[in-house]
Amino acid sequence: MENYEAINWNAISDQIDKATWEKLTEQFWLDTRIPLSEDLEDWHSLDTDHQWVVGHVFGGLTLLDTLQSQDGMAALRLDVKTQQETAVLNNIQFMESVHAKSYSSIFSTLNTPDQIDEIFEWSDTEEYLQNKTKRIYTLYHDNESPLKKKISSVFLETFLFYSGFYTPLWYLGHNKLVNTAEIIKLILRDESVHGTYIGYKFQLAFNQLSEKDQQELHDWMYDFLYQLYENEEKYTHILYDQVGWTNDVLIFIRYNANKALMNLGQDPLFPDTAADVNPIVMNGISTSTANHDFFSQVGNGYLLGDAESMDDDDYNIGAAPLYPEDK
Ligand SMILES: [Fe+2]
Ligand SMILES: [Fe+2]
Repeated sequence: MENYEAINWNAISDQIDKATWEKLTEQFWLDTRIPLSEDLEDWHSLDTDHQWVVGHVFGGLTLLDTLQSQDGMAALRLDVKTQQETAVLNNIQFMESVHAKSYSSIFSTLNTPDQIDEIFEWSDTEEYLQNKTKRIYTLYHDNESPLKKKISSVFLETFLFYSGFYTPLWYLGHNKLVNTAEIIKLILRDESVHGTYIGYKFQLAFNQLSEKDQQELHDWMYDFLYQLYENEEKYTHILYDQVGWTNDVLIFIRYNANKALMNLGQDPLFPDTAADVNPIVMNGISTSTANHDFFSQVGNGYLLGDAESMDDDDYNIGAAPLYPEDK
């Protein structure tokens, strides 16, 4: 074999790797530091239909974060261009495990053991949830198409999560279940960086393709997105018809589908913009996360980094620094 190379963080070939590492490590968090039990009073004020939606939305999100932690990052790691990219993907993979575990913290606080069993039985068998998971799983394990893996990852994180994220953001906008929503906001903040970073790595490789190959991949991507959208419509009806939120959720996921395309450097597919989304939910997204002092217990010399949520400007790759607040 060729000589094995030690990773040298003083010789960086892609500054975005270093900026992303710094961003992700600054915004590190753990589910165990959020006081979820303070949401119990709100939880008991919900009727059973709304409780069902909350539980099953999180069941679906658990499955997708499990896929990211078990298969997604390992698949992307086979195609890295730099050693620092591997390090970033290692960080992302661990955080995907934190995400997947954090829903279990929510369940153990809000749900009974029987309810928890039923939710996992549901997420392991629900047709449309399984459809999207299996589509993406298959692409992750197709080593012939590194770029399709990256597209799958960005579609999952910037688009498919949002049918689930809608619920906690809606409650946050109504000042309910705020600690549960805080966990979701921390997850969402991570996913923004993951989607932007992997979208950026996609664009680097996409720009090297011939015009013909670009056109082919472009057509495949829009076709794949639309197929995922049609599946997502059915999934959304199953989750939300009983509480009457379906149309609002569909606007929100079309808006996020456009963002996923933006991460990949492509034009939007749907006419929906931020102005069309329920303002209460947009408000939930835009508020910064509460400042949990995670490290106060290990001494006051260790300060939490000053991480921010991402906004629309962060998607203008090439037009501006990827993480402008770090510059
Ligand atoms: Fe995640
Ligand atoms: Fe992620």
